[in-house]
Amino acid sequence: MFRRLPEIETASSTVAFTIDGRPASARAGDSVAAALLANGVTVCRNTPVSGAARGPYCMMGVCFDCLVTIDGTGNRQGCQVRVAPGMAVETQNGKREVER
Ligand code: FES
Repeated sequence: MFRRLPEIETASSTVAFTIDGRPASARAGDSVAAALLANGVTVCRNTPVSGAARGPYCMMGVCFDCLVTIDGTGNRQGCQVRVAPGMAVETQNGKREVER
């Protein structure tokens, strides 16, 4: 469904981060959702009720199908956060507790 535009970035603009503890890389400026897709991760969460798989869809903050845990904080919209060096992204299974 999604694919990158032709490569125009240089190797120096690569960002190293992790997906479920595995090393990954992205282009500087990529959203977390774009970085997940670029690394072959199309499912970033499972719904709390049915367990259905969900992945980034709208890429503009509307569908909430891109929820992931970022640096230990759950329910972050991956399409609304830029990937950063050393960031730890985790896919989600089921609901996350809301921080109060
Ligand atoms: S992909 Fe739809 S809200 Fe992030």
